[in-house]
Amino acid sequence: MTELADRPVDLSDLNLDPDDFSSNPSTAPCFQEVAASRMSRRTVLRGGMLAAAGFMTTSLFADTPAAYAAPKGKAVPPKGAGLLGFTAIAPSKMDEVVVPPGYTAVPFIPWGTPLQPNGPAFVPGSPDAGVTGGNTAADQEQQVGMHHDGMHYFPIGSGRNASLRGLLVVNHEYTDEGLLHTATPAEPAPGAYTLEMVRKSQAAHGVSVVEVREDQHGSWKVVPSKSNRRITANTPMTFSGPAADSPLLDTGAPANGSNPVGTINNCSHGYTPWGTYLACEENFNGYFGGVPTKKIGDEDVLDYTSFGDDAELLDRYGVGGNRYSWSPTDKRFALAPGDVEEVNRFGWVVEIDPFTASSTPVKRTALGRIKHEGAFVHVTKGGRDNVYKSDDQSNDYAYKYVSSGNWKSLRARGLSPLDEGTLYVARFNNDGSGTWLPLIHGEGGLTPEAGFADQAEVLVKTRLAADVLEATPMDRPEWTTVDQTTGMVYLTLTNNTSSSKEINAANPRKPNPWGHIIRWQETGNDHTATSFRWDLFLLAGQGRDSETNDGSTILAEDAFGSPDGLWADPDGRVWIQTDGSQPGKVNDQMLAADPRTLDSNGVPEVRRFLTGVRGAEVTGVITTPDQRTMFVNLQHPGDGGLNTWPQEKGVLVPRSSTVVIVKNDGGVIGT
Ligand code: FEO
Ligand code: CA
Ligand code: CA
Repeated sequence: MTELADRPVDLSDLNLDPDDFSSNPSTAPCFQEVAASRMSRRTVLRGGMLAAAGFMTTSLFADTPAAYAAPKGKAVPPKGAGLLGFTAIAPSKMDEVVVPPGYTAVPFIPWGTPLQPNGPAFVPGSPDAGVTGGNTAADQEQQVGMHHDGMHYFPIGSGRNASLRGLLVVNHEYTDEGLLHTATPAEPAPGAYTLEMVRKSQAAHGVSVVEVREDQHGSWKVVPSKSNRRITANTPMTFSGPAADSPLLDTGAPANGSNPVGTINNCSHGYTPWGTYLACEENFNGYFGGVPTKKIGDEDVLDYTSFGDDAELLDRYGVGGNRYSWSPTDKRFALAPGDVEEVNRFGWVVEIDPFTASSTPVKRTALGRIKHEGAFVHVTKGGRDNVYKSDDQSNDYAYKYVSSGNWKSLRARGLSPLDEGTLYVARFNNDGSGTWLPLIHGEGGLTPEAGFADQAEVLVKTRLAADVLEATPMDRPEWTTVDQTTGMVYLTLTNNTSSSKEINAANPRKPNPWGHIIRWQETGNDHTATSFRWDLFLLAGQGRDSETNDGSTILAEDAFGSPDGLWADPDGRVWIQTDGSQPGKVNDQMLAADPRTLDSNGVPEVRRFLTGVRGAEVTGVITTPDQRTMFVNLQHPGDGGLNTWPQEKGVLVPRSSTVVIVKNDGGVIGT
């Protein structure tokens, strides 16, 4: 334990991002001592730290093979056959996307692609930043946004047609302000921003809805369509659910005091059985200005003292910093003491009907307000909606939401399953059990005396409520997914090098520069249950057979770090995408894991399927219903100007882009 916790890691090798700093001051017990005793005992039993880290990967499900039995009618390989049929590829430092032999990958709908054939062509740079002829804010509103992230494919038609034509809906997480305005890595000076430039940045955020069609194998085109639209930081929206009418969300602005405007920092996503898309708002905190700073040592840190009673909430979400220089010209993003409601209008799950371009997106408050990574919807046996969610910050939490009844019945009554339900936060106990703690006003200490006047306040202040419930601090929770063949829930924990991290059995390494994947099965495989059993699916890193002893359970040939994007496909392959530091400083990548094929250490088989280009994270993964086309996103290629991928038509700035992947023989991806 001590060796593992204290093992030196060269953090200068790691690309850490702002999420890596904890804002959780919780003094909830982190089970350090219990974990230490458990791990120490295992060390003795299993003969080394590697075994200690890997113990939980073998302990929970090895004797419950029934958990892997597929429901009738599922297309799964014959018994004994592995799920992974492709040849693993090597890690890469190249500026091209590499996929296994027999597969083809081509870029598709990069940033700036016109939504309609007569739309404005992509030209980098902003006229107001001195780039003559560059795209304006109005142009950007009619083009695919920047920095693609979570994504879903909604089929149009049925049968084979469903896999030939559909709506691709893509989140745009953030903007590279240099590429956007100066067409170089150099960002405009904060004082150089005109309102037009701010509007262009806001138009590059949000969500793109694009109708797409395959005209020949592996070749997809954008189709002129009434569905094609952009949702941006300025799109009118509404609130629904228990906090919809809360004064905490009402800015008092004449036009839109009670209705929110726009969505930002849309990271991962979800999709519902009734055909809507869920765009999740992640690092909304950094868009706001007006919070003064103070010096601590050499560092400027945000100082909330002047915000009085609002200080605790602003601090817990780390609000301020004005990272996009919007607030001086767009006062909506400038906070002031007593005037903070605008920031409370972000951090939600936004429901979008992609098939009705005139529909108004809805922020569903029953799902809570966190720095949402994603929101994976799973339908329970009783037809209730279950939404697995995660809050991406060091030492923050995993959540789930359960609708109060069958989703079809609720909708038949004119109610949304995303308005009527209970939000829970996860506690991962050291003995492999877990508990879902309900965030219900009046229960578990969520009382007026504790600062929660009603359910609306519990939801607006979700992080503070979860602190009260003593949820388990996690190593930056990212994507969740449910393996439909087993009911197993998976969650990526990307990394955690925060000095305030405390070790618990679910997050056993300190520091944890490479991340891990946890999974759990709800009691009785009932996704409405309030208890579960968990284990560690794998610990990422340089490999258990490498020279280093970093506690990783995977093999060195499969080395990866910073797992982020995650999706269990209909056969149960678990696709893992990375964002951040990789062993050997190779490019970000996508791997597939087979939970049914375990090695002698109980670790699932992993194979590298795709390597991205320099500087780019690999994120967003979905296939057509026939699983013969896969869509994956490469976000921020170059990340600071290293390359010009995807180099289309002589464009010399790097552009985030979707990649279309097919198997040349037309087979199912991954087989
Ligand atoms: Fe937007 Fe946590 O990645
Ligand atoms: Ca992510
Ligand atoms: Ca990430």
